[in-house]
Amino acid sequence: MHVAIIMDGNGRWAVKRGLPRPAGHRAGAETVRRIVEAAVASQVSVLTLYAFSADNWLRPRREVSALMKLMKRYLVSERLRCIENGIRVNVIGRRDRLAPELVRSIEDLERATAHGDRLLLRLAVDYSSRQLLLKAARESRNPTTFEEFERCIESVSHSVPGVPSVDLLIRTGGEQRLSDFLLWECAYAELVFSDTYWPDYTEAEFRAALDEYSRRDRRFGQLSGQLSQRSA
Ligand code: IPE
Ligand code: IPE
Ligand code: MG
Repeated sequence: MHVAIIMDGNGRWAVKRGLPRPAGHRAGAETVRRIVEAAVASQVSVLTLYAFSADNWLRPRREVSALMKLMKRYLVSERLRCIENGIRVNVIGRRDRLAPELVRSIEDLERATAHGDRLLLRLAVDYSSRQLLLKAARESRNPTTFEEFERCIESVSHSVPGVPSVDLLIRTGGEQRLSDFLLWECAYAELVFSDTYWPDYTEAEFRAALDEYSRRDRRFGQLSGQLSQRSA
């Protein structure tokens, strides 16, 4: 099962407490740790987290640099935990605008965790679905199937190959929009929105979203009966 999360609401969480916005991002990083553990425990096989969008570069310089610093620290501090828990880390998005030291930390962690087989944790950094789709379209030579084009998208995104489409997309923080995240991959995703700001998002709420997902009737354009017949 592939779960994707738009981790939103860090800034508002901080402002509500009279703290600077980066304090919200730091608290959000703690939530990442907890939800990754919950995902492993719930036997989710792929978790894709939206950490920094291509449009987030337009935020004030101080906030961008706080986010970059936090990302670098996270990639280093989580190394052992990921290796011990069988978590394979993969950073998707553009890399040409990231600081060379950050790219090195990304490559290090990807290498160090490449054998993890319990959870594929994809972190979307400098990510824009539309930019990547455009790049894939430019670089692919007449793909004839969805799967072929998906391999092109993965390749331009620095994603490991063969990742299944998103089954469940969660967005915290109260907004109900995609913000240029996994537009192709979410074609038939179930959507769950939460008003909770990301730093306050709990394992219990995550598990409740998985329960909600399991109650949904996914039809993929067909009738429920047809699908259960095929899988029987
Ligand atoms: C999400 O939280 C994290 C990033 C975009 C990096 P925000 O920073 O968007 O928090 P809000 O939406 O302003 O509360
Ligand atoms: C989306 O959140 C990006 C991340 C969570 C990293 P934003 O806060 O940037 O999205 P908008 O601006 O509300 O659409
Ligand atoms: Mg936001």
